[in-house]
Amino acid sequence: MSKIQFFCLFLTFFGICLTSSQFRINSNGLSYQEQLKEITRRLEDQRYNQQKDFKFFPPQFYEMKGLYSSNIHGNAMDKNNTFFYHLIREYVGCPDSNMFVTNFVLSAMLDCAELGTIEIDQEKFEESIDAILQFRDKNQKEGIPSYSFWKQNYKNGTWYSYPQNLQKVAEMIKIMPDWAKKLLIKLGLPFVAVADKIADAFHLPPDADDSSVNIALGIRIMNSPLIRQSIKEKWIKSNHNLQEYYQLLKKYSYKPFDVSNSSVNTLDVRTYFAFHNYLQTLNKTSNFSVFTTWIRSTDDQIPSMIEIPGNTNNFDCSVISNTLFGLHNILLNSNQTVVNEIFDEELQGLYLNSTNVIIYAIDSYISKSHPDIAFLYYPSVYDFYWFVARNVHLLNSNYDKIPNQLIKDVVDALNKSMKNQGTIYILNNTLADKNGNLYWQEFLGIYNNKTYHEDETFSTVMALNALIDIWTISKTDENGKVKRIFDSQTPQNVTTTIQKGMQTLLKKNSFSKSNQNAFFSGSFKSLNTLSIYPMNVNHYLNGTEFDPHTADFIALQQVKGVKGIIDEKEYQEMLKQKWFNLNVIEEFTGYNSQILSYPYWSSPAITYSMGASLISKYQSLQSND
Ligand SMILES: *[C@@H]1O[C@H](CO)[C@@H](O)[C@H](O)[C@H]1NC(C)=O
Ligand SMILES: *[C@@H]1O[C@H](CO)[C@@H](O)[C@H](O)[C@H]1NC(C)=O
Ligand SMILES: *[C@@H]1O[C@H](CO)[C@@H](O)[C@H](O)[C@H]1NC(C)=O
Ligand SMILES: *[C@@H]1O[C@H](CO)[C@@H](O)[C@H](O)[C@H]1NC(C)=O
Ligand SMILES: *[C@@H]1O[C@H](CO)[C@@H](O)[C@H](O)[C@H]1NC(C)=O
Ligand SMILES: *[C@@H]1O[C@H](CO)[C@@H](O)[C@H](O)[C@H]1NC(C)=O
Ligand SMILES: *[C@@H]1O[C@H](CO)[C@@H](O)[C@H](O)[C@H]1NC(C)=O
Ligand SMILES: *[C@@H]1O[C@H](CO)[C@@H](O)[C@H](O)[C@H]1NC(C)=O
Ligand SMILES: *[C@@H]1O[C@H](CO)[C@@H](O)[C@H](O)[C@H]1NC(C)=O
Ligand SMILES: *[C@@H]1O[C@H](CO)[C@@H](O)[C@H](O)[C@H]1NC(C)=O
Ligand SMILES: *[C@@H]1O[C@H](CO)[C@@H](O)[C@H](O)[C@H]1NC(C)=O
Ligand SMILES: *[C@@H]1O[C@H](CO)[C@@H](O)[C@H](O)[C@H]1NC(C)=O
Repeated sequence: MSKIQFFCLFLTFFGICLTSSQFRINSNGLSYQEQLKEITRRLEDQRYNQQKDFKFFPPQFYEMKGLYSSNIHGNAMDKNNTFFYHLIREYVGCPDSNMFVTNFVLSAMLDCAELGTIEIDQEKFEESIDAILQFRDKNQKEGIPSYSFWKQNYKNGTWYSYPQNLQKVAEMIKIMPDWAKKLLIKLGLPFVAVADKIADAFHLPPDADDSSVNIALGIRIMNSPLIRQSIKEKWIKSNHNLQEYYQLLKKYSYKPFDVSNSSVNTLDVRTYFAFHNYLQTLNKTSNFSVFTTWIRSTDDQIPSMIEIPGNTNNFDCSVISNTLFGLHNILLNSNQTVVNEIFDEELQGLYLNSTNVIIYAIDSYISKSHPDIAFLYYPSVYDFYWFVARNVHLLNSNYDKIPNQLIKDVVDALNKSMKNQGTIYILNNTLADKNGNLYWQEFLGIYNNKTYHEDETFSTVMALNALIDIWTISKTDENGKVKRIFDSQTPQNVTTTIQKGMQTLLKKNSFSKSNQNAFFSGSFKSLNTLSIYPMNVNHYLNGTEFDPHTADFIALQQVKGVKGIIDEKEYQEMLKQKWFNLNVIEEFTGYNSQILSYPYWSSPAITYSMGASLISKYQSLQSND
């Protein structure tokens, strides 16, 4: 018996045993509090506490004060999956300063604070919010919460996103000798070797993903007694014009039956391919619209400044889930006047249609057949399940506050899908160690029947966060302290899976192994994401058409898309044809390949912060009994 158990037993005799499980010890691991302390210490190391500029000599990367780190890695792999490439994946990366990662870290810290496990350092939190607010799209009027992934620079009347470190690396590549470029290619970093040629692809438009997670975090901050007033004032000053933000999302949504405008009725050929079975079931005489990723269309790109990579908009189920999360936070926390203003008929249709796409994705297990396209920017499928799960948790917890029946119907449908197919997927993918503890893994370093356990901790953290968010609700007391409670219908195999998964993460060394992840990526990340699919829109940016069957593939100059809905028989015929002289690869070939290396973003800060949020939720559940 450990000392603490003995201490607890001793206290029991005096009738004051701690109901809090802070001191509960797991058979083979750390107490919740000990593991949380360890993780938050590690998280602190991932924070940029000072502003640093990029310097060639002595080499120094740009770091923006207040942000948490993430690195761009290459998914280098060779035929034998040798240790050398494992080292490259783990240790070679370019630090990136984006707002996205920090947003999730702050949100997870807020989870912990609400559950009473950590205290928020208001000074540091404010610094991080200051940093995030700098990513607002400055081409929009003040107050419109449209955000871009990277901070913008100004040139000739336009603000365009500018990734400080990548751009500098691209400049360096320009003057690099050929042998050095060849070495980079050999190291599995071919996209670094051509960074100078693809620098234009860095000039991303603002997007619904970054914008919506900012809204979700902001609304939480505005309503939290745990955040000081100065932070709230800053946030609302920059983000108060929600109505115009949703005008933008409506304007750039995908509307396949809108014949008046080819920019909005045309979809990325990859997205069309992954969803053609669904899209062709749609009723052509009713409206249909889906939230897209980019807050921009083919028509209003600005050359070399604001361009959609590949020039055609797409939708991504993970991005849509984040877009819904922003909207749900608004709908639950606004009065009826605001709800009526923002949530007009058009947005209601967009909301309903987009959630139906998500439900189709869950129910059809698209995470098995084409995760690479359905989640175009998220190689981790557990990202997707958790992004949906946190919507379900938020809505189930606030069911009485839902302002109208349409949303209630959507919530019931999402709740059902996640408690059935969503849960089945997660339970079906557990792995067990020799002691019967459960864990999950995705794909980093798994090839040729060999694994280096690179993304195990992250995958386990995300899968468990998803399961807990699907099957629990939060109850908040008047001090803002939150408690998690299991749905009374929770099946035994779910609670057992959660418990055995937590045992893995409470082991002493669980966060001292690899904390790498593929939290997100660009859209090109498998042989299937190279846009070799049927299309009926095929022209250069200057308007000249090209023959899509025989032309050379030129990513930056070509517009490739599917306009409207193609009759299914015809589409099946088109799948048999050659596009850019290549056959369509219909089956998902996996994320690891010795012939294709692509960039992905890894952020141990995400593994730590989401891990801390998870342990806090679990502790709260344990303290119920
Ligand atoms: C890969 O493994 C095979 C079999 O073990 C070996 O013959 C071959 O030389 C290895 N190739 C490389 C590039 O290491
Ligand atoms: C600056 O913008 C104007 C109008 O948008 C355009 O005509 C001109 O070519 C641009 N100049 C440069 C150097 O990009
Ligand atoms: C088509 O719609 C998009 C998005 O609303 C808009 O930016 C673009 O200007 C429109 N194009 C035309 C030709 O009207
Ligand atoms: C298609 O939508 C129209 C208009 O909303 C409706 O009248 C019609 O019944 C629908 N058709 C089918 C087959 O659902
Ligand atoms: C489709 O949406 C447009 C714009 O919101 C609206 O004017 C039109 O009545 C809608 N059509 C149907 C069939 O609902
Ligand atoms: C509704 O909320 C908005 C924004 O917070 C506020 O300006 C308005 O006064 C509120 N209206 C009512 C009727 O409470
Ligand atoms: C899409 O939304 C429209 C309302 O704008 C609705 O009539 C239609 O049934 C929806 N379709 C789907 C598949 O969600
Ligand atoms: C979600 O589904 C579960 C299981 O079917 C049910 O117990 C629960 O009441 C549902 N939640 C809501 C808010 O409808
Ligand atoms: C569950 O796992 C089994 C065995 O790995 C597999 O055959 C089955 O298709 C999986 N089902 C789902 C829904 O993922
Ligand atoms: C991996 O193992 C399976 C089963 O043992 C075998 O069939 C397959 O060829 C192996 N794959 C590689 C790439 O060695
Ligand atoms: C979990 O239990 C439920 C109900 O007891 C059952 O329907 C389901 O098939 C089980 N799921 C798995 C993946 O074992
Ligand atoms: C349009 O752009 C393509 C690709 O850059 C080029 O080959 C073609 O000559 C251009 N056409 C015209 C009319 O400028």
